[in-house]
Amino acid sequence: MKKIVGIICGAIAAAVAFSVVALADSHVPSSVKARQAVMQLNNYYLSILGNMASGKTKYDAKLAVASAKSLSLVEAEGIDQSTMWAPGTSTAELGDATRAKPEIWSTWPAIMEPIKGIKVSIDAMVNASGTLEGLQSTIGDVGKSCAACHKYRSGK
Ligand code: HEC
Repeated sequence: MKKIVGIICGAIAAAVAFSVVALADSHVPSSVKARQAVMQLNNYYLSILGNMASGKTKYDAKLAVASAKSLSLVEAEGIDQSTMWAPGTSTAELGDATRAKPEIWSTWPAIMEPIKGIKVSIDAMVNASGTLEGLQSTIGDVGKSCAACHKYRSGK
């Protein structure tokens, strides 16, 4: 079948582009958005791995190792998050814009314990995720480590 490709030569009106400011978002510091983006990446890679571990998707060794390594880069060793967790960015100051509890700062450095835990558990998963059994036997500890730190996350 012959496809007829219509070429539309339209004179594009030089519309004045008004930048639309999302008012609801305007009070959220970029540091907060960045750390929430980190958490979304955590969730993204852990979901890929979790779906394989549970049999929801087919186990793929290459993808499993790549996802575990990516999770490690994001959460365990790769990127500097220090400026994302600036003082003055908890629920006490920013309300609904964040779920980070003030305890992160008031009990500092207590949060380093769960952070240490997640590094150990992610390392173990990186090393083991080349087989389905290895992935299955290590992913639970990663999930527990995420949860251990989420005591610093408000429930709203
Ligand atoms: C260092 C402690 C810590 C670790 C480790 C941690 N989280 Fe979080 N997580 C938080 C805090 C605090 C928030 C709230 C951040 C905010 O709203 O500013 C959060 C938020 C989230 C969110 C919501 C993000 C959004 O868009 O609002 C998801 C999803 C999430 N974490 C998943 C994970 C997963 C999966 C892991 C493990 C791989 C993990 N987290 C490890 C502390 C942690």
